[in-house]
Formats: sequence, C-alpha cells, structure tokens
Amino acid sequence: MKEFEPVIVAFCCHYCAYTAADMAGTMRLSYPPNVKIIKVPCTGKVGGVHIMRALEKGADGVIVAGCLEGDCHFKDGNVKAAKRVSYVQKLLDEIGMGPERVEMVTLSAGMGERFARIAAEFTESVRALGPNPVKEAPAGRARAAAASS
Ligand code: FES
Repeated sequence: MKEFEPVIVAFCCHYCAYTAADMAGTMRLSYPPNVKIIKVPCTGKVGGVHIMRALEKGADGVIVAGCLEGDCHFKDGNVKAAKRVSYVQKLLDEIGMGPERVEMVTLSAGMGERFARIAAEFTESVRALGPNPVKEAPAGRARAAAASS
C-alpha cells in the first residue's frame, strides 16, 4: 500500500517567511515537496476562513508563516494571524480533528534553514496524524461514489 503523503499548505508572508523559503532553496536545503507555498502580502491577510477552506479543499495541514514578532511590515499582522490560528486550533479541537493540523510560525528572511526544518517536522507530524478526515473527495471519486449509491 502506498504511504500517505500529506498535503501541506503554507501561507507565507512576502517579506520574511517567503524569503526564508526562497533562501532554503538558494542554500540547496531540501524540504518535503508536500509543502505548497501560497505567498501572501502579510499573514494579517490570512483569515480563519482561508485556513478552513484550505483544509476543506484538500490540505492535511496548514502552516501560517510570518515575520518575527515586532518585525511585521504591516505593524501587527503576525500578531493578528497568531490569534486567528489559535482560534482555528480551538475549533479543530472542538470538532475532534485536533489542533495540530494548523500551526503559526515566525521567521526572519534569513532563516532558510529554520524554514526547511519546520517544513520537514510539520510534514512528519501531519503524516503521523493521517489524512484530514473532512477534506472533499476528489471530483472523480465523489462522482463514482454517487453513481454507485
Ligand atoms: Fe510578514 Fe506581516 S509582513 S507577517
């Protein structure tokens, strides 16, 4: 049987986290291809709805990665994002999915190594959790299931 390969969505702010991910690439540090990066202007633009939608649409885990505290280029977007992530974690806990599928991290632009390590560790922790139980079935499978019932 094929090993479960988690899909991880990483919302990375343009100024620090995305640059750190880019630096990881420049430094030829490998991190799992499971991590799909979505560049956002600031993590302050990432709402709970975006995180929940990512989980609904197929992500097994979500990382919100922003600037270090005090370094947000939009003043306090990362602080707001941390509060939203915490709220989503509580919701996930209440519905029995576990809060571990969503994580907030902060990085400076020069932390390529840290980005690669976080990406690898988070991928492994989500792999251990197993597939996200609420993600939509792929369209083909959903149609086949509907046709057979
Ligand atoms: Fe990076 Fe706001 S600009 S978190």
